[in-house]
Amino acid sequence: MTISGIEGRFSLVTIDRKNFINNFSRDVKSGLTSESKHLPFVYFYDHAGSQLFEKICGLPEYYLTRTETDILEANADDIVSLFTGETVLVELGSGSSTKTRILIEAFLERQRLAHYTPIDVSHKILEESAYSLLEAYPDLVINAIAARYNEGIDHLNILKEQQNLITWLGSSIGNFNRSEVTDFLRHLQKIMLPNDRFLVGIDLKKEKTILENAYNDTQGVTAEFNLNLLTHVNRELGGNFDVDKFFHKAIYNEEIGRIEMYLISHIDQKVFISELDLEVSFMADETIHTEHSFKYSPDDINALAEETGLYVEQQWFDTEQLFSLNLFAPAAD
Ligand code: AVJ
Repeated sequence: MTISGIEGRFSLVTIDRKNFINNFSRDVKSGLTSESKHLPFVYFYDHAGSQLFEKICGLPEYYLTRTETDILEANADDIVSLFTGETVLVELGSGSSTKTRILIEAFLERQRLAHYTPIDVSHKILEESAYSLLEAYPDLVINAIAARYNEGIDHLNILKEQQNLITWLGSSIGNFNRSEVTDFLRHLQKIMLPNDRFLVGIDLKKEKTILENAYNDTQGVTAEFNLNLLTHVNRELGGNFDVDKFFHKAIYNEEIGRIEMYLISHIDQKVFISELDLEVSFMADETIHTEHSFKYSPDDINALAEETGLYVEQQWFDTEQLFSLNLFAPAAD
Protein backbone atom coordinates (compact mmCIF):
# COMPACT_ATOMS: atom_id res chain seq x y z
CA MET A 1 0.00 0.00 0.00
CA THR A 2 1.38 3.45 -0.86
CA ILE A 3 -0.10 6.64 0.42
CA SER A 4 1.51 9.89 -0.57
CA GLY A 5 2.66 12.26 2.09
CA ILE A 6 3.31 9.75 4.83
CA GLU A 7 7.11 9.91 4.48
CA GLY A 8 8.58 11.07 7.72
CA ARG A 9 5.23 10.77 9.47
CA PHE A 10 5.36 7.09 10.30
CA SER A 11 7.71 4.74 12.11
CA LEU A 12 7.15 1.26 13.51
CA VAL A 13 9.37 -0.80 15.81
CA THR A 14 8.53 -4.48 16.24
CA ILE A 15 9.57 -6.79 19.04
CA ASP A 16 11.59 -9.76 17.88
CA ARG A 17 9.34 -12.20 16.06
CA LYS A 18 11.51 -15.13 17.17
CA ASN A 19 10.89 -14.12 20.75
CA PHE A 20 7.19 -14.04 20.10
CA ILE A 21 7.19 -17.63 18.83
CA ASN A 22 9.34 -18.75 21.77
CA ASN A 23 6.94 -17.16 24.23
CA PHE A 24 3.94 -18.59 22.41
CA SER A 25 5.42 -22.11 22.52
CA ARG A 26 6.31 -21.84 26.16
CA ASP A 27 2.92 -20.42 27.16
CA VAL A 28 0.90 -22.98 25.20
CA LYS A 29 2.97 -25.85 26.56
CA SER A 30 2.67 -24.76 30.17
CA GLY A 31 -1.01 -23.84 29.81
CA LEU A 32 -2.11 -27.09 28.21
CA THR A 33 -0.03 -29.38 30.42
CA SER A 34 -1.18 -27.83 33.69
CA GLU A 35 -3.86 -29.52 35.78
CA SER A 36 -6.56 -26.97 34.95
CA LYS A 37 -5.84 -26.05 31.36
CA HIS A 38 -5.50 -22.43 30.34
CA LEU A 39 -4.18 -20.28 27.49
CA PRO A 40 -3.14 -16.61 27.76
CA PHE A 41 -5.57 -14.05 26.32
CA VAL A 42 -2.74 -12.21 24.47
CA TYR A 43 -2.82 -14.86 21.73
CA PHE A 44 -6.40 -13.95 20.78
CA TYR A 45 -5.03 -11.05 18.78
CA ASP A 46 -3.62 -12.46 15.59
CA HIS A 47 -4.93 -10.68 12.51
CA ALA A 48 -8.20 -12.64 12.38
CA GLY A 49 -8.64 -12.27 16.13
CA SER A 50 -8.17 -8.51 16.01
CA GLN A 51 -10.81 -8.32 13.29
CA LEU A 52 -13.21 -10.47 15.30
CA PHE A 53 -12.66 -8.23 18.30
CA GLU A 54 -13.63 -5.22 16.15
CA LYS A 55 -16.83 -7.07 15.31
CA ILE A 56 -17.50 -7.69 19.01
CA CYS A 57 -17.21 -3.94 19.63
CA GLY A 58 -20.21 -3.36 17.35
CA LEU A 59 -22.47 -6.00 18.92
CA PRO A 60 -25.69 -4.79 20.58
CA GLU A 61 -24.94 -6.76 23.77
CA TYR A 62 -21.36 -5.46 24.02
CA TYR A 63 -22.19 -2.11 25.64
CA LEU A 64 -18.54 -1.35 26.53
CA THR A 65 -17.46 0.25 23.25
CA ARG A 66 -20.63 2.22 22.72
CA THR A 67 -20.69 3.70 26.22
CA GLU A 68 -16.98 4.55 26.21
CA THR A 69 -17.37 6.25 22.82
CA ASP A 70 -20.25 8.33 24.22
CA ILE A 71 -18.13 9.38 27.21
CA LEU A 72 -15.21 10.31 24.96
CA GLU A 73 -17.38 12.30 22.58
CA ALA A 74 -18.97 14.24 25.41
CA ASN A 75 -15.65 15.03 27.13
CA ALA A 76 -12.80 14.95 24.60
CA ASP A 77 -12.48 18.71 24.47
CA ASP A 78 -12.27 19.00 28.27
CA ILE A 79 -9.70 16.23 28.40
CA VAL A 80 -7.54 17.72 25.67
CA SER A 81 -7.75 21.22 27.17
CA LEU A 82 -5.73 19.93 30.13
CA PHE A 83 -2.72 19.62 27.82
CA THR A 84 -1.32 23.00 27.04
CA GLY A 85 2.17 22.21 25.74
CA GLU A 86 3.34 19.82 23.06
CA THR A 87 1.61 16.55 23.81
CA VAL A 88 2.21 12.96 22.81
CA LEU A 89 -0.83 10.73 22.76
CA VAL A 90 0.28 7.23 23.72
CA GLU A 91 -2.16 4.36 23.44
CA LEU A 92 -1.82 0.92 25.00
CA GLY A 93 -3.55 -1.82 22.98
CA SER A 94 -4.53 0.55 20.21
CA GLY A 95 -6.14 -1.99 17.84
CA SER A 96 -8.08 -0.15 15.14
CA SER A 97 -7.67 3.20 16.98
CA THR A 98 -11.32 4.00 16.24
CA LYS A 99 -12.16 5.65 19.56
CA THR A 100 -8.79 7.39 19.60
CA ARG A 101 -9.85 9.41 16.57
CA ILE A 102 -12.08 11.40 18.90
CA LEU A 103 -9.04 12.46 20.94
CA ILE A 104 -6.83 13.00 17.88
CA GLU A 105 -9.44 15.31 16.36
CA ALA A 106 -9.82 17.21 19.61
CA PHE A 107 -6.03 17.67 19.76
CA LEU A 108 -5.84 18.82 16.14
CA GLU A 109 -8.44 21.47 16.85
CA ARG A 110 -6.13 22.97 19.46
CA GLN A 111 -2.67 22.14 18.15
CA ARG A 112 -1.05 22.34 14.73
CA LEU A 113 0.48 18.87 14.91
CA ALA A 114 -0.48 15.75 16.79
CA HIS A 115 1.94 13.03 17.87
CA TYR A 116 0.52 9.58 18.36
CA THR A 117 2.31 6.49 19.68
CA PRO A 118 0.10 3.39 19.42
CA ILE A 119 1.32 0.23 21.14
CA ASP A 120 -0.22 -3.08 20.09
CA VAL A 121 0.80 -6.74 19.83
CA SER A 122 -0.38 -6.98 16.20
CA HIS A 123 1.99 -5.17 13.83
CA LYS A 124 -0.42 -5.76 10.95
CA ILE A 125 -3.25 -3.99 12.75
CA LEU A 126 -0.82 -1.20 13.67
CA GLU A 127 0.15 -0.71 10.03
CA GLU A 128 -3.43 -0.86 8.77
CA SER A 129 -4.78 1.63 11.25
CA ALA A 130 -1.75 3.91 10.93
CA TYR A 131 -2.22 4.17 7.18
CA SER A 132 -5.85 5.06 7.50
CA LEU A 133 -5.13 7.64 10.24
CA LEU A 134 -2.29 9.25 8.28
CA GLU A 135 -4.52 9.51 5.26
CA ALA A 136 -7.30 11.11 7.28
CA TYR A 137 -5.08 13.52 9.24
CA PRO A 138 -2.28 15.28 7.29
CA ASP A 139 -0.95 16.85 10.51
CA LEU A 140 -0.57 13.59 12.39
CA VAL A 141 2.77 11.91 13.14
CA ILE A 142 2.74 8.26 14.22
CA ASN A 143 5.52 6.36 15.99
CA ALA A 144 4.09 2.89 16.47
CA ILE A 145 5.43 0.14 18.73
CA ALA A 146 4.51 -3.51 18.13
CA ALA A 147 4.93 -5.05 21.57
CA ARG A 148 3.23 -6.11 24.75
CA TYR A 149 2.44 -3.30 27.19
CA ASN A 150 5.40 -3.68 29.49
CA GLU A 151 7.95 -3.89 26.71
CA GLY A 152 6.12 -1.15 24.83
CA ILE A 153 6.22 1.44 27.59
CA ASP A 154 9.93 0.79 28.07
CA HIS A 155 10.38 1.90 24.45
CA LEU A 156 8.71 5.25 25.09
CA ASN A 157 10.84 8.31 24.72
CA ILE A 158 9.69 10.43 27.67
CA LEU A 159 10.87 14.01 27.19
CA LYS A 160 10.74 16.74 29.82
CA GLU A 161 9.57 19.34 27.31
CA GLN A 162 6.55 17.27 26.29
CA GLN A 163 3.44 16.10 28.07
CA ASN A 164 2.20 12.55 27.66
CA LEU A 165 -1.40 11.51 27.62
CA ILE A 166 -1.22 7.75 27.98
CA THR A 167 -4.53 6.07 27.19
CA TRP A 168 -5.69 2.56 27.92
CA LEU A 169 -9.19 2.30 26.52
CA GLY A 170 -11.82 -0.38 26.23
CA SER A 171 -11.35 -1.80 29.74
CA SER A 172 -8.37 -3.84 28.57
CA ILE A 173 -7.23 -3.41 32.17
CA GLY A 174 -9.84 -6.08 32.93
CA ASN A 175 -7.62 -8.81 31.52
CA PHE A 176 -5.19 -8.44 34.41
CA ASN A 177 -5.66 -9.61 37.95
CA ARG A 178 -5.16 -7.26 40.84
CA SER A 179 -1.46 -7.90 41.40
CA GLU A 180 -0.67 -7.75 37.68
CA VAL A 181 -2.48 -4.42 37.40
CA THR A 182 -0.75 -2.91 40.42
CA ASP A 183 2.66 -4.05 39.13
CA PHE A 184 1.96 -2.56 35.73
CA LEU A 185 0.58 0.75 37.05
CA ARG A 186 3.52 1.13 39.42
CA HIS A 187 5.85 0.57 36.49
CA LEU A 188 3.93 3.15 34.47
CA GLN A 189 3.80 5.62 37.37
CA LYS A 190 7.59 5.46 37.61
CA ILE A 191 8.09 6.56 34.02
CA MET A 192 5.42 9.31 34.22
CA LEU A 193 6.51 12.90 34.78
CA PRO A 194 4.35 15.17 37.00
CA ASN A 195 2.45 16.64 34.03
CA ASP A 196 1.76 13.31 32.34
CA ARG A 197 -1.68 11.79 32.66
CA PHE A 198 -3.09 8.29 32.32
CA LEU A 199 -6.60 7.97 30.84
CA VAL A 200 -8.11 4.56 31.46
CA GLY A 201 -11.49 3.13 30.48
CA ILE A 202 -12.79 0.70 33.09
CA ASP A 203 -15.93 -1.43 32.90
CA LEU A 204 -18.06 -1.31 36.04
CA LYS A 205 -19.51 -4.06 38.22
CA LYS A 206 -23.18 -4.52 37.45
CA GLU A 207 -26.03 -6.98 37.16
CA LYS A 208 -24.92 -10.48 36.15
CA THR A 209 -27.24 -10.86 33.15
CA ILE A 210 -26.03 -7.67 31.46
CA LEU A 211 -22.45 -8.84 31.86
CA GLU A 212 -23.04 -12.42 30.75
CA ASN A 213 -25.00 -11.32 27.68
CA ALA A 214 -22.12 -9.05 26.66
CA TYR A 215 -19.80 -12.07 26.54
CA ASN A 216 -22.29 -14.63 25.14
CA ASP A 217 -23.70 -12.72 22.18
CA THR A 218 -26.53 -14.23 20.17
CA GLN A 219 -24.64 -13.96 16.86
CA GLY A 220 -21.80 -16.09 18.22
CA VAL A 221 -19.04 -13.61 17.41
CA THR A 222 -17.50 -13.90 20.87
CA ALA A 223 -17.54 -17.69 20.45
CA GLU A 224 -15.71 -17.32 17.14
CA PHE A 225 -13.20 -14.94 18.76
CA ASN A 226 -12.54 -17.41 21.57
CA LEU A 227 -12.26 -20.43 19.23
CA ASN A 228 -9.87 -18.52 16.95
CA LEU A 229 -7.27 -18.99 19.69
CA LEU A 230 -7.16 -22.68 18.73
CA THR A 231 -6.81 -21.79 15.04
CA HIS A 232 -3.91 -19.51 16.01
CA VAL A 233 -2.22 -22.42 17.83
CA ASN A 234 -2.83 -24.64 14.79
CA ARG A 235 -1.24 -22.17 12.41
CA GLU A 236 1.77 -21.04 14.46
CA LEU A 237 2.60 -24.24 16.31
CA GLY A 238 1.30 -26.95 13.98
CA GLY A 239 -1.63 -28.00 16.13
CA ASN A 240 -4.53 -30.11 14.90
CA PHE A 241 -7.35 -28.71 17.05
CA ASP A 242 -10.75 -29.32 15.44
CA VAL A 243 -12.53 -26.11 16.48
CA ASP A 244 -15.93 -27.75 15.94
CA LYS A 245 -15.17 -30.09 18.83
CA PHE A 246 -14.99 -27.21 21.32
CA PHE A 247 -17.53 -24.61 22.39
CA HIS A 248 -17.42 -21.22 24.03
CA LYS A 249 -18.81 -20.21 27.41
CA ALA A 250 -18.51 -17.07 29.53
CA ILE A 251 -19.71 -16.78 33.14
CA TYR A 252 -19.67 -13.90 35.62
CA ASN A 253 -17.99 -14.83 38.87
CA GLU A 254 -19.78 -12.41 41.16
CA GLU A 255 -17.65 -13.14 44.20
CA ILE A 256 -14.42 -12.18 42.45
CA GLY A 257 -16.06 -9.63 40.16
CA ARG A 258 -14.87 -11.00 36.85
CA ILE A 259 -16.07 -12.57 33.61
CA GLU A 260 -14.36 -15.92 32.98
CA MET A 261 -14.19 -17.26 29.43
CA TYR A 262 -13.73 -20.91 28.63
CA LEU A 263 -13.36 -23.23 25.66
CA ILE A 264 -15.02 -26.55 26.50
CA SER A 265 -14.38 -29.91 24.85
CA HIS A 266 -17.55 -31.50 23.44
CA ILE A 267 -16.05 -35.00 23.65
CA ASP A 268 -13.11 -37.08 24.87
CA GLN A 269 -10.35 -36.26 22.40
CA LYS A 270 -6.63 -35.96 21.81
CA VAL A 271 -4.90 -33.04 20.11
CA PHE A 272 -1.35 -33.07 18.75
CA ILE A 273 0.81 -29.93 18.53
CA SER A 274 3.75 -30.79 16.30
CA GLU A 275 6.06 -27.85 17.06
CA LEU A 276 5.85 -28.74 20.74
CA ASP A 277 5.88 -32.49 20.10
CA LEU A 278 3.01 -32.53 22.54
CA GLU A 279 -0.14 -34.62 22.73
CA VAL A 280 -2.92 -33.16 24.86
CA SER A 281 -5.88 -35.23 26.07
CA PHE A 282 -9.26 -33.70 26.79
CA MET A 283 -12.17 -35.29 28.58
CA ALA A 284 -15.71 -34.40 27.52
CA ASP A 285 -16.68 -31.10 29.24
CA GLU A 286 -13.10 -30.33 30.18
CA THR A 287 -12.34 -26.61 30.05
CA ILE A 288 -9.51 -24.40 28.80
CA HIS A 289 -9.63 -21.09 30.67
CA THR A 290 -8.85 -18.41 28.08
CA GLU A 291 -9.72 -15.03 29.58
CA HIS A 292 -10.49 -13.02 32.69
CA SER A 293 -12.28 -9.72 32.45
CA PHE A 294 -12.28 -8.00 35.81
CA LYS A 295 -14.97 -5.44 36.65
CA TYR A 296 -14.53 -2.53 39.06
CA SER A 297 -16.65 -0.40 41.37
CA PRO A 298 -15.79 3.32 41.73
CA ASP A 299 -14.29 2.45 45.13
CA ASP A 300 -12.13 -0.26 43.56
CA ILE A 301 -10.84 2.33 41.09
CA ASN A 302 -9.87 4.80 43.81
CA ALA A 303 -8.16 2.07 45.79
CA LEU A 304 -6.21 0.96 42.72
CA ALA A 305 -4.97 4.48 42.04
CA GLU A 306 -3.96 4.98 45.64
CA GLU A 307 -2.02 1.72 45.78
CA THR A 308 0.01 2.64 42.72
CA GLY A 309 1.12 6.19 43.50
CA LEU A 310 -1.63 7.78 41.42
CA TYR A 311 -4.90 9.53 42.13
CA VAL A 312 -8.15 9.89 40.21
CA GLU A 313 -8.09 13.48 39.02
CA GLN A 314 -11.30 13.25 37.03
CA GLN A 315 -13.85 10.57 36.33
CA TRP A 316 -16.67 10.33 33.80
CA PHE A 317 -19.58 7.91 33.35
CA ASP A 318 -22.13 7.23 30.62
CA THR A 319 -25.74 8.11 31.38
CA GLU A 320 -26.55 4.53 32.41
CA GLN A 321 -23.45 4.25 34.64
CA LEU A 322 -22.31 1.12 32.85
CA PHE A 323 -18.76 2.28 32.11
CA SER A 324 -16.18 4.71 33.46
CA LEU A 325 -13.39 6.81 32.02
CA ASN A 326 -10.75 7.79 34.56
CA LEU A 327 -7.97 10.34 34.45
CA PHE A 328 -5.13 9.28 36.75
CA ALA A 329 -2.41 11.70 37.75
CA PRO A 330 0.82 10.95 39.61
CA ALA A 331 0.35 11.69 43.31
CA ALA A 332 2.78 14.25 44.71
CA ASP A 333 5.31 12.45 46.89
C1 AVJ B 1 -10.40 -6.24 25.19
C2 AVJ B 1 -10.23 -7.22 27.35
C3 AVJ B 1 -11.64 -5.33 27.02
O1 AVJ B 1 -12.77 -8.25 28.24
O2 AVJ B 1 -14.33 -7.10 27.31
C4 AVJ B 1 -14.45 -9.11 24.57
C5 AVJ B 1 -12.04 -8.70 25.38
N1 AVJ B 1 -13.37 -10.81 25.30
N2 AVJ B 1 -15.24 -10.17 24.50
C6 AVJ B 1 -13.22 -7.61 27.29
C7 AVJ B 1 -13.25 -9.50 25.09
C8 AVJ B 1 -14.58 -11.20 24.92
C9 AVJ B 1 -12.35 -7.40 26.06
N3 AVJ B 1 -11.16 -6.58 26.39
